[in-house]
Amino acid sequence: LWTPGNIIDELIDSVRRQVGSDHVVLGLSGGVDSSVVGALLHRAIGDQLTCVFVDTGLLRHQEGDQVMATFARHMGVRVIRIDAEQRFLEALKGIDDPEQKRKIIGGLFIDVFDEEASKLSNARWLAQGTIYPDVIESAGSKTGKAHVIKSHHNVGGLPETMKLGLVEPLRELFKDEVRRIGVELGLPREMVYRHPFPGPGLGVRILGEVKKEYADLLRKADHIFIEELRKHDLYDKTSQAFAVFLPVKSVGVMGDGRRYDYVVALRAVETIDFMTARWAHLPYDFLDHVSRRIINEVRGISRVTYDISGKPPATIEWE
Ligand code: XMP
Repeated sequence: LWTPGNIIDELIDSVRRQVGSDHVVLGLSGGVDSSVVGALLHRAIGDQLTCVFVDTGLLRHQEGDQVMATFARHMGVRVIRIDAEQRFLEALKGIDDPEQKRKIIGGLFIDVFDEEASKLSNARWLAQGTIYPDVIESAGSKTGKAHVIKSHHNVGGLPETMKLGLVEPLRELFKDEVRRIGVELGLPREMVYRHPFPGPGLGVRILGEVKKEYADLLRKADHIFIEELRKHDLYDKTSQAFAVFLPVKSVGVMGDGRRYDYVVALRAVETIDFMTARWAHLPYDFLDHVSRRIINEVRGISRVTYDISGKPPATIEWE
């Protein structure tokens, strides 16, 4: 009988058989899959698990703190948090091509993760949040490596010398099953039912060159949008919603003066498979409220637009 409880028991048994008394390292990203693996392994092997969380500086509002609160403080999981914001910003300086940004962010992420993982000299296993759709996708690909395909968060580039075996307890599960298991393991519902977030993070939601100033503005605007979606019970009715930072200045009037500030676009879509999507027909009053809040509360943004493009031809992300 498929119940989350039964599956969890089976997965725990099988992880224990696989790793014995060895140490396991897991890259936590804040996403659903790695979070569920973290919670599952913690229950299965407790202190034999060490998680590494890389803060790229391109994460959402307070995302790093939330990961630490949930895993380290609440559940007592050993998590090493690496503040790599400077390194990421430095590496991205002057780069405005989206694919190049992706490559740099993905490569650096693996470097930083590797550095930390290799310090854990007792680790024998690398755990990953590979799920069944990743496995299928990789079967049709040339590399045959699910962990490379999925996103850079599923690390595939560990040095040969580390010789870590792979622990992928979610390999046979679909996303909705992974979510049900996550809830059963006690992860917060908001974390388990979060919208997908791209591996390169805000790096591809800041158009063109990435700067800390832009990331900070975008985080604030995005947070207001998401907070209001949740408050108005619209979050679960959209498949993905976020703000995009446009590095152009547009005029606004404040008091007696004119100010030239940045623009954000709000994007919200409804989709089943993310291959095609329709823009979410959010209520005008809601959009009005969000726009006012962003312009009033985020100094540096003077204009908010709403993206009404379907996929295809427009992609969900702007880069
Ligand atoms: P697009 O923009 O291609 O997005 O319509 C479809 C889905 O994929 C996500 N996405 C990414 N995820 N690394 C990721 O891990 C990426 O580089 C990337 N680009 C897009 C996007 O957020 C949407 O859910």
